[in-house]
Amino acid sequence: MSAPVFLVTGATGQLGGAVVEQLGGRGDRLLLVARDKDRLADLEAEFGAEGRLETLAADVSDPEEARRAAAEAVGRFGRLDGLVHLVGGFRAGPLFLTGPDVYEQMLRDNFLSAVTATQGVLPHLGEGARLVYFGTPLAEVPLPGLSAYAAAKAALVTWVKSVAHELKRKGIHANAVVMTMADTPDKRRERPHMNFDHTVTPELVARVVGFLTGPGSDGLYGCAVPVLGRFEFTSELGGPPPGVGGPR
Ligand SMILES: NC(=O)c1ccc[n+]([C@@H]2O[C@H](COP(=O)([O-])OP(=O)(O)OC[C@H]3O[C@@H](n4cnc5c(N)ncnc54)[C@H](OP(=O)(O)O)[C@@H]3O)[C@@H](O)[C@H]2O)c1
Repeated sequence: MSAPVFLVTGATGQLGGAVVEQLGGRGDRLLLVARDKDRLADLEAEFGAEGRLETLAADVSDPEEARRAAAEAVGRFGRLDGLVHLVGGFRAGPLFLTGPDVYEQMLRDNFLSAVTATQGVLPHLGEGARLVYFGTPLAEVPLPGLSAYAAAKAALVTWVKSVAHELKRKGIHANAVVMTMADTPDKRRERPHMNFDHTVTPELVARVVGFLTGPGSDGLYGCAVPVLGRFEFTSELGGPPPGVGGPR
């Protein structure tokens, strides 16, 4: 059987490189999609290999563009075995400063793009195909100032669990990775004083993406798989963890 083919949407982001290395490294063939042509060109320069790792500029939140991206994957590689949907967006801010436009944007980036990308690939998928999405623990335990992002990711994960019931009848696996903040050079630059012990590396996330797109996850349909590293919600009221610091 020829190597599986995945559409990787949002491949130019912070997790893209690690996911491409993980899947490409085991021989999968990938069509990498994002909107910005310059960043795609960088990705192409780093990973591109004709017939194995190719790129395409498309906005997959547009249903027509999503269908075009899926058809391109089939046209270039001859088959399609799934979607790794890395597309997402992040905005923070208190409710009184968060207009409906921000809520719409978060829903489009984090939820509706998954719907349109999935509807684009579905006609090409068969038994054993894989769909992978990305959520956050903030959807389950929301914190202040993150209402638009948390609500949109909650919608995404609930949607994944719902459609997984429909898709498993066709042997298609839809699952989500629920991840905490990724430890990336950008994040370290933006937050010089943050303790990164509670983040996860893109490589650790990518390994789980490898699992969710491989035969190891044959029994998983509609799962939200936590990849939280050593993340924990903390509170000043709770005091330091046992063995850390002393009484105040
Ligand atoms: N990184 C984290 O700490 C973290 C934590 C929790 C969850 N997640 C989730 O994990 C996923 C991947 O994270 P990430 O950090 O790699 O995200 P990211 O850096 O924001 O990258 C997302 C990529 O998606 C592309 N994109 C956005 N809208 C698109 C559209 N409509 N069509 C095609 N491409 C589009 C963007 O490139 P263009 O602008 O060029 O299109 C961008 O490069 C996201 O869903 C994110 O919400 C990430």
